[in-house]
Formats: sequence, structure tokens, C-alpha cells
Amino acid sequence: MSTTERIRMVAVGPDDSAEKAQWLEALGNAIDSNSFCLGAEVDRFESACKERLGVAHAFGVSSGTDGLKVALSAVGVTSGDEVIVPAYSFFSTASVIVQLGAVPIFCDLDPDTLCIDPAAAEQLISSRTRAILPVHLYGQTADMDALLKIAQKQQIPIVEDAAQAFGVFQGGRPAGAIGDVGVFSFYPTKNLAAAGDAGMIVCQDDEIANKVRQLRVHGDAGGYNHQMLGWNARMDGFQGAILSLQLQRLDERQAIRQRNAKEYLHALKEHHLTSRVVPLGRTSGSDHCWHQFIVQVDNRDQIRDQLAERGIDSGIYYPSTLPQQSCLSTDRYLSADLSELFPVAQRAARKVLALPVHHRLLEGDPTRVIQALADLVGDRGGN
Ligand SMILES: Cc1ncc(COP(=O)(O)O)c(C=O)c1O
Repeated sequence: MSTTERIRMVAVGPDDSAEKAQWLEALGNAIDSNSFCLGAEVDRFESACKERLGVAHAFGVSSGTDGLKVALSAVGVTSGDEVIVPAYSFFSTASVIVQLGAVPIFCDLDPDTLCIDPAAAEQLISSRTRAILPVHLYGQTADMDALLKIAQKQQIPIVEDAAQAFGVFQGGRPAGAIGDVGVFSFYPTKNLAAAGDAGMIVCQDDEIANKVRQLRVHGDAGGYNHQMLGWNARMDGFQGAILSLQLQRLDERQAIRQRNAKEYLHALKEHHLTSRVVPLGRTSGSDHCWHQFIVQVDNRDQIRDQLAERGIDSGIYYPSTLPQQSCLSTDRYLSADLSELFPVAQRAARKVLALPVHHRLLEGDPTRVIQALADLVGDRGGN
């Protein structure tokens, strides 16, 4: 790629024709072994994930969204329950709660990391709270130590939305299995990417695992004996086959994401930009898979358009908060001043800008992005 070539926001699909040939061979093997819904290819991928993450149970599911629904249900969330959830995340973090007939109780964020603020979450616990659902936003964990203390004191399960944090560890514990149960997404833009929709549920507890196993397949305890209402949430064999290949390349691709993030942070400092193009802080003890490299800037939408004119794509994850989505909201939020209730989340929705960080960037691309940003916001030669 020459330095004038467009810098794209995402890299999906095989990197080159050699990788495409590997994918086709893997799909051919899945066809030959009749591995279509769950089956040998999904078993193989689940085993590899268990080993890599050090978890007792891993279940391939049809998507991160379906995984969240199954996981919440497995810890007992049902109609009328409350689930505490950050006010800022992908839509389905909260839509699954509503679809279960439960009520999302939105919580503001830690201003440094934009993950759920544990102290604010504690204030929201009521007699109807059935789970806390932190999101490991952008690829580092929420403050799980603080959340675990609160959850253990109140005996409330934690379901981790680890959709953006496959392979991330905090204090030696794998994201997804630090709380009671957790969910990954393998949507094609994720750090571990399927060739379509797919996800995974992980946990250490046998009882929760038994529920997940059944809920993933219509609540079937075996032999068409349905003891609970579940869903069709199975991972398909083609995705299992592709994901096993992708897992083999994860370390190599993560190393490039790490290199890119480091280059961004270095270039931001070099240009004395960190007070105007503000990178997020880090959760203590968590590593980071850099699903996204996020900065917060004023005039975000204008800056994004100007970057695009200079051949640099960027993203906004997310342009609005969850309580702003009327289908998720209750009167409690619809009539409230959201900037007062969720000042950090509302500000994030106005300022967050995701810069390209994927594994197909070349060394020097992040510097080029930051140079463009310095031109746009003005390099003032000091912080
Ligand atoms: C934080 C978060 N939660 C949930 C999901 C849902 O995952 P999926 O797209 O696999 O259904 C995603 C993925 O987009 C996500 O980023």
C-alpha cells in the first residue's frame, strides 16, 4: 500500500488468495463430514477455545446477541427482573434484556475507560436486580475486581458482554469467565472473525453450563425432552471450520493491532494532541485486544468528514446512548434529562471516534492518521 492509498476502517474476509484457498478447503472438509449445525467442526473450535482461555466450558452459538440471551436466561433472568447495564454499548447488549421481558437499568460509565462505573452500578441495585451485565468495551475489561466485590456481597450474578474482547485477560483470568458467564461475538469485524454471524458462551460453572447447553438447542435436555423454553442458537459447522483457522492466526494479528495502538499513542504524544484528541485510559490489570482504537474529540462529525476527504476512514461506536433508543427505554428515561443521568455516556456519544487499528494496516499508517488529525485540530506544540 502506498502512503496515498485510502486507509480503511475494517478488514474482513481472507487476507489474500492463499488464505481464501484455506477457507475453501476448510468449508469442503465441513461438507464432507456433514458438519452443518454444531457437529465436529464446532466441537473442534470449542475445544481449542477452552484450552486457549483456560475455561471449563465453551459453547459455539449463532451470534453474540443470541449468546447474551442464552447466558442471561441461564443465570435466571426472566420477565420483570432488572438487569444493570452500561448506558453506552452496542444495541443488543440491552435489547436482549427487553426481549426476555426484563428491564434494563442503565448505568453511567467510568470517564477514563467508558466501561461501566462500578460505584454507580452499586447504587442501582434493587430487590429486583437479577444480574449485572458489564461490557468489555473496545477490547479491555471493565473493572471486574470492583464489580465482583459488589456482586458477591449482593449475591447477584455477573454476565460479561465480552463480544469485543476475545482472548483478553485481567489479572490472569479470561474475559468472559471472570464473572459467572460471558459471551463473545465473532462478527466479521471482530478480532476473531467468522465468515458470517457466530458467537460463543464461556463459563466455569457446571450448573450454568448445563443450562446453556439446553437453552442453545430449544431447551432440549436430550431426546426431545424440553424442560425449559430455549432458542435455536447453535453455531453452524461452516463458522466452526473458519474460526478454527482464524484462531491459529489470532496471535499474529493481535501483534499487529498492538503495534498499531502503540504507534497511535506515540504519534498523539509527538504532536502534543492528547488533550484535544483524547485516547481512553486503561483498566488496571487488563490487557487490551484493541478491537477499537478510540479517541474523543470536539466537532467529531466534522472531523470525521474531513478525515474521509483525506482518504482516512473512521467509525463512530456509537452515535447515541442506549436510553436514547425509545424501544429500550422506559418512562424513567424517556422523560428524564439524560445528560444529567448519564453525563459520561452522553458526552461519549458526541465525541467518540474510532480510528482504523486492524491487522491490514501498515507500519506508518497510524502516524499518517494522527498527522491528518493534527492538521485538522491544530498542532499547538504543547499540551
Ligand atoms: C458490545 C457488543 N455486544 C453484543 C454484540 C452482538 O454480537 P453479534 O453481532 O455477534 O450478535 C456486539 C457485536 O456487534 C458488541 O459489540
